[in-house]
Amino acid sequence: MRAGRLRFRVMIEQATESKNSVGEVLQTWNYVGSVWADIEPIRGEERLNIAQAQAVARHMKDLLSVPGWLEERINLPAEGGFGRHDLHQDEEFGHPDGGFLLMCGIQRPGQDNLPHDHGTTWVVYGVYEGAIEQTKWRWSYPEADRTAPELKPLESWVQKPGDIAFFLPGEIHHTCCVADDRAVVVRLEGQKLAGMLRHRYDPKTNTAELYTSGS
Ligand SMILES: [Fe+2]
Repeated sequence: MRAGRLRFRVMIEQATESKNSVGEVLQTWNYVGSVWADIEPIRGEERLNIAQAQAVARHMKDLLSVPGWLEERINLPAEGGFGRHDLHQDEEFGHPDGGFLLMCGIQRPGQDNLPHDHGTTWVVYGVYEGAIEQTKWRWSYPEADRTAPELKPLESWVQKPGDIAFFLPGEIHHTCCVADDRAVVVRLEGQKLAGMLRHRYDPKTNTAELYTSGS
């Protein structure tokens, strides 16, 4: 624990119980002492996942409104440059454990992927240049046989420069580059996805495959 993080004065009190004249239990809190402490939010609660993703989405919106920052950060050519570039790896913050990753992916026209989730973490997508089509998927249980789930597209939309979308832990989506030349997509992974157990899904066979993404 670094002493500089102990920014909060915490008062410690102890409860004692007594009974009043009619036998009701009364609780009284007595001051014991005070200490300097740090406050860390509890991780793993859905409400916190959403709050984290929303906060990051707002920051990414601001980031995408700054012209030229990505060209300065990486050697982004005027055309092409397809592939992945890691921009920043944090070691302290994120979900479900410390450490998020900011990266960008440059996609070819028509480039897509299978529906997938992001394991136990959330992911925020922002488009810097070009456009991608986002499609969300969900499991559907037919009335005729509720033990035979089918993967169905839930909604699709085109994400353009400056547009943000995020996906919570377990949500299923896939992307397709719908730009004529390329799509430059900035992505913040709530926890670095490399090595995390995830699923990818085949809507033709309604099957899910467990996998881990590479570095
Ligand atoms: Fe994804």
